[in-house]
Formats: sequence, structure tokens, C-alpha cells
Amino acid sequence: MISGILASAWHEAIPRRHSTRNYDERPVPDELLNGLTPLLSGFAPLCEGARAVIVADGTPKIFTGIIGSFGKITAPPPVALAFVADTSHPHYQVATGYLGEGIILQATYLGLATCWVSGGFSSAEAKSRVELEPSEKVMAMTPLGFAAPDETLGTKGIKAVTSAHKRKHLSSIVSGLPPKDWLPDCGEALEAARIAPSAMNRQPWRFDVDDKGVTISTFGLDLFPRAPVKLDCGIAMLHFEAVARANGLHGQWRMTDGASHVAEFIFADANP
Ligand SMILES: Cc1cc2nc3c(=O)[nH]c(=O)nc-3n(C[C@H](O)[C@H](O)[C@H](O)COP(=O)(O)O)c2cc1C
Repeated sequence: MISGILASAWHEAIPRRHSTRNYDERPVPDELLNGLTPLLSGFAPLCEGARAVIVADGTPKIFTGIIGSFGKITAPPPVALAFVADTSHPHYQVATGYLGEGIILQATYLGLATCWVSGGFSSAEAKSRVELEPSEKVMAMTPLGFAAPDETLGTKGIKAVTSAHKRKHLSSIVSGLPPKDWLPDCGEALEAARIAPSAMNRQPWRFDVDDKGVTISTFGLDLFPRAPVKLDCGIAMLHFEAVARANGLHGQWRMTDGASHVAEFIFADANP
């Protein structure tokens, strides 16, 4: 379970976070980097199987774009974060999304700009800068810095393709109990999960609400090995939990092992 202090900060950061692809050259001050350091090795049990590493050189070589310049960080800042997954862990994909989004929201809270990047970076360049155990790989990265004044120009191309900031309606991604029967604050936590970022903005998740908790399942095909849908689900789980916790709706995620069922958030006062 994440701490109340982090949950409040992330609750505030969620509506402000968006993907930034064009940065200026200002370095990240040490005091802001120090604000992220305690989170890099994890902040809750669900982070097990993932960690993050600060990369402070070579960012223009790392952020290459997917095909030509599509999905490219056009002007990367000097610092980035690498999200490292331990592929021997059964839930490493969810763990990477959950851990990475906690750090991204903390960066947002501190006033830094970010963008999840899983396709548009060079694995070889990242690998040469991050020490990895044999079972580990860099699954995704984010630039870390300050948005350039003309940032919107850099986002035009990708926005047209991904409809960034547009999301499916809650009614089309939630089943189970009708909203009038949800626990107080469950709706706001689901709303936070709804606006979570996902690769290509595909939102590959569905939620089912009953009186004991909320189940998250994957939706759609898992076509891109560099951006597994369970990583996106880990991001949405972090959003749900942060807002639930910030509002006093207690509970915790329990991983389920079904092919499409990912996890169940069990309310603390639910009868077993
Ligand atoms: C796991 C993941 C991988 C992503 N990979 C890329 C990428 O390679 N290049 C890119 O420009 N954006 C990438 N994005 C950013 C998404 O396109 C973006 O989050 C989505 O369109 C929603 O927009 P928003 O983040 O501004 O809310 C990625 C996002 C996630 C969550």
C-alpha cells in the first residue's frame, strides 16, 4: 500500500500530468532529483520486480523515435529515467507500470515534465548506460526536465495519431454494480484510472465493481512486446490506488493469475 503522503501528492499531480515531447536544456536541480531518489527502488510491495535508474548522459542518442520521427522526443533534456524490469518476477510488467507511474507523478508534483517512452528509445544505448542483472531489461524510459515554450509544436504529430488526452467514457470501461451503489470515493478513483496514460493511448483496461472491490482486466490484443498491456494496467492501478488512498477509501491490490484478469483491489472493510 502506498503512504498517505505520496497518495495526496499524486492525487494532486494526476490531472496535471501529460506527455511532454519537447524540452529545453535546463538541467534538473539536484534538490528535485533528490525528491525522486527514495522512490527509485520501490515505494510499495507491488513495485517488486521493477526499479528505476537515473541516466544523466547521452539522452539525444537514447530517444530515437519508433519509425523515423514518429513517437520521438524531439528535444530531450539532459536527464532521463530508465524503468528496469526483472523478467524473472511473475508480475514484472504490472510492477514496471506501477513503479514508473508513481515516480512520474512525483516528478509532476515537483514541477518536472515527463513522457513514458517504450517504443521510441534505443535499447542498446540505454543498456550501455544502465547496469543490468542477467534477468533484467530496460522496459521503458522517460525524459525528465522542463517543457520547452513551444512544446505544443513538438506534440502535434503524435497527438493526431494517439488523440492524446482523449479517453473512453467511464461507462464503456466499467461493469458490475451501477454507480449509485459504489462506495463513496470509488467513482473518483475509477476516474483517475480512466485518465491514466497508456502506450498509443489505447487504454487497454476494463474494471468490474462489486461490493467487495474492483477488478482490473486487460482488454484488446497484446501486440507490441515493447509495450505489454499489463504495463499499462499497472499504471492505471497506481492511479486508482493513489486517489482511493488520498480520499480514505482503504484497500489493497491482490494480483490474480488469469490470462486477462490482472488484479483485484479489495476494500479494507469488505467481508471475505
Ligand atoms: C507504456 C507507455 C509507452 C509509451 N511510449 C511512447 C513512445 O514510445 N513515444 C511517445 O511519443 N509516446 C509514448 N507514450 C505516451 C502516450 O502516447 C501517451 O501517454 C498517451 O497518448 C496519452 O497522452 P497523455 O500522456 O498526454 O495523457 C507511451 C505511454 C505509455 C504509458
